[in-house]
Amino acid sequence: METAYLAALATILLMGIGTLATTLRQAGPYGRHMTPAQRGTMPALPAWLLFESPQWFAFAITFWLVAPPAGGPAVPMLLIFGLWQAHYVYRGVVYPLRMRDRHKRFPLVAVVMGFLFNLLNGFANGYAVGHAEHLMTADWFTDPRFIAGLAFAIVGWLVNFQADSILINLRGDGFTGYRVPHGGAFRYVSAANYFGEIVFWAGFALFTWTAAGLVFLLFTMANLMPRAVAHHRWYREYFPDYPKSRRAVIPGLL
Ligand SMILES: NC(=O)c1ccc[n+]([C@@H]2O[C@H](COP(=O)([O-])OP(=O)(O)OC[C@H]3O[C@@H](n4cnc5c(N)ncnc54)[C@H](OP(=O)(O)O)[C@@H]3O)[C@@H](O)[C@H]2O)c1
Repeated sequence: METAYLAALATILLMGIGTLATTLRQAGPYGRHMTPAQRGTMPALPAWLLFESPQWFAFAITFWLVAPPAGGPAVPMLLIFGLWQAHYVYRGVVYPLRMRDRHKRFPLVAVVMGFLFNLLNGFANGYAVGHAEHLMTADWFTDPRFIAGLAFAIVGWLVNFQADSILINLRGDGFTGYRVPHGGAFRYVSAANYFGEIVFWAGFALFTWTAAGLVFLLFTMANLMPRAVAHHRWYREYFPDYPKSRRAVIPGLL
């Protein structure tokens, strides 16, 4: 399985480079960047449920296949397993159910690409966490990489959750268009949800200390940073009084 793991990491890196090259020219065609002419779409709710699902099932199957059999997986491994599954219950089930606009469509091509990527990524991270030697002893809980990484991940997750909630509430009155978001990390960046997401996965890469965690962080940055820049440009174009001091995704920098 080690060969499949290394091949998955290489494929995710290549997909990241491809995604970066594509999205620097044209933001992923969903949400505000989807044109009315987009062909082949499905309702957004089942689309999210479907394409995020491999993150939990591929991770779970691989983890339980490779985790040490004698005495069961160690406590750090089990904690990371639980955090991963909890995050994807949120992202793959709770988040789509919270979205207000039930008529939104999602491109089929993005569903297929998302499903395949998540299958590879769930497998790679389930494998990495399930057999990492440093995660087999409770000593890892006192390692500075674990403590700092977990702190980062918690802050990033909370920033992302708050930003998701602010965006969802912008349509709380049945409005289906776009408004300028305020509050939380939107004070500093146009894509506060992506900023939180990137900090979260940076923390995850640190507290798991695995190549798969690092590769997923790089992919997330390649995927979300150009999209954040596209959102930022779009806001400036459509809202003439858009706050001038806001950056796209990294406070004070980008
Ligand atoms: N780890 C990863 O690689 C990864 C990849 C993708 C997404 N995610 C996460 O998944 C979540 C959703 O991502 P996304 O790409 O769909 O984010 P998004 O483009 O910012 O949209 C988020 C939601 O808010 C709505 N929305 C955005 N801006 C709005 C505004 N100004 N006024 C009113 N409604 C607004 C969008 O509606 P419309 O659909 O109508 O635009 C959509 O329902 C985020 O938390 C993101 O971090 C993670």
